[in-house]
Amino acid sequence: MVTTVGTEASFPELVENLLLLEHDAIAAYQQAIERLENPSFKDAIAGFKSDHDRHVRELTALATSSGATPHQEGDAKQMLTTGKVALASIMGDSAILTAMRSNEEDTVTAYERASRHAEAPADARAMFERAHQDELRHRQWMQNASSAS
Ligand SMILES: [Fe+2]
Repeated sequence: MVTTVGTEASFPELVENLLLLEHDAIAAYQQAIERLENPSFKDAIAGFKSDHDRHVRELTALATSSGATPHQEGDAKQMLTTGKVALASIMGDSAILTAMRSNEEDTVTAYERASRHAEAPADARAMFERAHQDELRHRQWMQNASSAS
């Protein structure tokens, strides 16, 4: 499923949807950490999850200052992000990382749009651009690791 996050009309809506997306992503990271067998993959995924935890802290601050709702958990899409990781785990680590990489497509796209969002103030755009770089790095690692394992 392709995300629509980043196409919101207003800045508070954008921040709220990014927070939901982050919580959905973190749930999938948690699922992957629990199910991966290779300890070095677990460590790498845990490191990436800490980037997402930082995004949530930064987005929560933006939500508070802009009057948006600082969501503390994800929405129904969490079933999708975690479900595909759980299902993939039957086939092993490589399949888990492939499922995770498909989740990264949404975060890469969402932050790419957010960093260019017309309603976003400069400090928020800078945060979105940093998060975009994090997501590109996560996706690249998952691509390499899933094809090498
Ligand atoms: Fe990520």
